[in-house]
Amino acid sequence: MKASLESGLITIKGGRPLRGEVIAQGSKNATLPIMAASLLLYNGKISLRNVPKLLDVHTMSELLISLGAKVDRDDHTMTIEIQDELAWEMPPSLVRKMRASSLVLGPLLARCGKVILPLPGGCAIGSRPMDLHFKGLSKMGAQITLDKGAVIAKANKLVGTRIYLDFPSVGATENLLMAAALADGETLIENAAREPEIDNLVRALRKMGAVIEGEGTGILRIKGKKELNPASITIIPDRIEAATYLLAGVITHGDVAIRGVIPEHLNALLAKLDEAGIEVINNGNVLRVLNPGRPNGITLKTMPYPGFSTDLQPQMMALLSLADGTSIIHETIFEARFLHASELQKMGAQIELQGNTAIVHGQENLIGAEVYATDLRGGAALVLAGLAAEGETTIYNVEHLKRGYENMVEKLTLIGAQIDERAAEVTKEDI
Ligand code: EPU
Repeated sequence: MKASLESGLITIKGGRPLRGEVIAQGSKNATLPIMAASLLLYNGKISLRNVPKLLDVHTMSELLISLGAKVDRDDHTMTIEIQDELAWEMPPSLVRKMRASSLVLGPLLARCGKVILPLPGGCAIGSRPMDLHFKGLSKMGAQITLDKGAVIAKANKLVGTRIYLDFPSVGATENLLMAAALADGETLIENAAREPEIDNLVRALRKMGAVIEGEGTGILRIKGKKELNPASITIIPDRIEAATYLLAGVITHGDVAIRGVIPEHLNALLAKLDEAGIEVINNGNVLRVLNPGRPNGITLKTMPYPGFSTDLQPQMMALLSLADGTSIIHETIFEARFLHASELQKMGAQIELQGNTAIVHGQENLIGAEVYATDLRGGAALVLAGLAAEGETTIYNVEHLKRGYENMVEKLTLIGAQIDERAAEVTKEDI
């Protein structure tokens, strides 16, 4: 297969140090659940600030509209208006565009008492089951059945209870939090995810009148309310986007500052860069790298927050393929998040895969090649490799990047990258 018909491509002439400042966008993974939380309203609006312009945000808007919401966007602000009537069934084609569609399950069930959610299915990075979402909602009194590729969830009323998550799943924590906000009585979520995006959702729900304690501690206590109120909510900066541009500065030995970031959200990355001998200057809300040299080889393990984020593992693999020494990367969150490795190999990276472990033998150079983005963060890793590589790199299937990076080509151009984007000129025979 060459590339999908609708896909675009990016070409990069690599080997130029990037120099300049990048302003972090609003967080994709905070925006999506907060948009879904609007469904908890019976009547009223939520207003969002710092909303990134991304394909996934657009897909979530379409999903909310299909359920009866009115969504208005103006640059980086958005209002979502909910009126009395909401549908509880949605088009499978829309749900299958994005795993995060599953985030409507909890709020819609709490609000309407019934949901038919076509199963979002697997994706390139693994099968991504929803058992923890279902287990938690069932414990709150929902009846959940699977029928012909759809989840049917029903609950006359959801009742507060004690839920222990076998794994601190981000999506399950978000769905259960939202459902608990309208449940009868108190819900305790133990071993809850502690990602900053969860804190943003908790703060949003609190602004809507929910009573929640414990964000960031792994134990969330939610006192259900009969109704929530309209609110105005600010989305936090996108730590993964910010880190990707910081790594672009590192991999090109440039001078890149990222503004508007919350540095403590990136503590694990900063610790690992420090271990690799890369200095990052931290001025409160600006992170800067200044002509860094080659990193040393390190060992890295992806973990739930505050551990090292799986969403930065591909980008770190690109960097470490240019390290002085060998690195070991253990991916513990997703079962198949090494698809970018074979693409990096086409550029000269020396990577051995052993199950969920990658052994990366650092090389002095990467060489431009034709490569394929297989998923969002894997695509970002290829962009980083292309920026550092000698010669020209062509990356196909760059639609994946639009799911999570706003104006990536423009942002990189502004700091000196030679990067262009165009529609892929492929015929059916190429596919
Ligand atoms: N899992 C289960 N059962 C469940 C839920 C999850 O086995 O019921 C497993 C998943 O299969 C996966 C692991 O637990 O292996 C982690 O899944 P989690 O639920 O924590 O992730 P998610 O909510 O599906 C969010 C982000 C991902 C990010 C992960 C981990 C959003 C919209 N997505 O996904 O972001 O990688 O948390 O931090 O918030 C990305 O931005 O590129 C991205 C994939």
